[in-house]
Amino acid sequence: MAIGLVADTDADPPPFYYEKEIDPERLKEFDAYEILIKHSGIPEQDVLKHVTEQRDKAWNVFPYPCIGKWQFLDCEINKSAVYPEVLERIKSGQKYLEAGCAFGQDIRKLVTDGAPPANLIAEDLSDDLWSVGFDLFNDASKLGVRFIAADLQAASSPLTMPPPEGVAGTVDMIHASWFFHLFTRTEQVNAARNLIQALRPGPGTLIMGRQIGNKHPGEYGKKIPHKDGREGTTAYRHTEETWKQLWHEVGESTGSKWEVEHYDESEIDHKWVPFEPEGLIKQLWVARRVG
Ligand SMILES: C[S@@+](CC[C@H](N)C(=O)[O-])C[C@H]1O[C@@H](n2cnc3c(N)ncnc32)[C@H](O)[C@@H]1O
Repeated sequence: MAIGLVADTDADPPPFYYEKEIDPERLKEFDAYEILIKHSGIPEQDVLKHVTEQRDKAWNVFPYPCIGKWQFLDCEINKSAVYPEVLERIKSGQKYLEAGCAFGQDIRKLVTDGAPPANLIAEDLSDDLWSVGFDLFNDASKLGVRFIAADLQAASSPLTMPPPEGVAGTVDMIHASWFFHLFTRTEQVNAARNLIQALRPGPGTLIMGRQIGNKHPGEYGKKIPHKDGREGTTAYRHTEETWKQLWHEVGESTGSKWEVEHYDESEIDHKWVPFEPEGLIKQLWVARRVG
């Protein structure tokens, strides 16, 4: 899933990022296409009808642009340079958490690449999109991945509580894809601090992600609703420098130290985020705990 801004839920007619149909050739380019055939057992001739039904259902849950634009069919974790390391570490017993997992397409990618489901945790505000994910991937009876509902803006959640109620202090790696860019800078700091609480103490853990940044950093956007029901807010767009600065601050306030690898991947067409200044960029990053 890409461009993860929050949609205007009352928009009528549908917003510009709602594409009613998907070109069958474009559908084949998404990672989910192969997963739907091999993992989910959907006959190839039925994939188009199946994803269209599930997409329409998900759009009614919450009209994220990535749902309107069909980009939830794309996996992101496998596009990271550290994917081989992450997969190996999960296979060797380490725990992985997908923050803001939505449908859980990245979880399915890991499972189809051999990650033991027992070492994976899916997390989101609620299980509404995760449930659509079971229908989309046709695997409710076999997936075997633990789901946790948690608000990463809350002072206390299953991520900050130790087992058995929560997972605090037990996770080795976290992936937050198209997630941090939903929030103001203050909220990004809250979310990072909460994620750190889920991690095992000490060096060696990592948090990675992908997000929209901007060559001109700042708090941009318009008053649009959030899925958690809060008033709409702006969202902070980072450069490499401001993102590293955020992790430095988060480290100082949590007694931890982070080394951040950051890559500007590709420019994002301004038409997808027309209410923000030009200079939008797709960013990938890995924050490793080193102290
Ligand atoms: C744009 S979607 C990205 C979904 C998925 N990571 C992907 O790459 O396709 C953002 C996700 O963050 C979740 N989210 C939004 N606010 C949240 C919060 N305060 N705590 C936890 N999850 C939240 C949403 O429910 C949604 O599933």
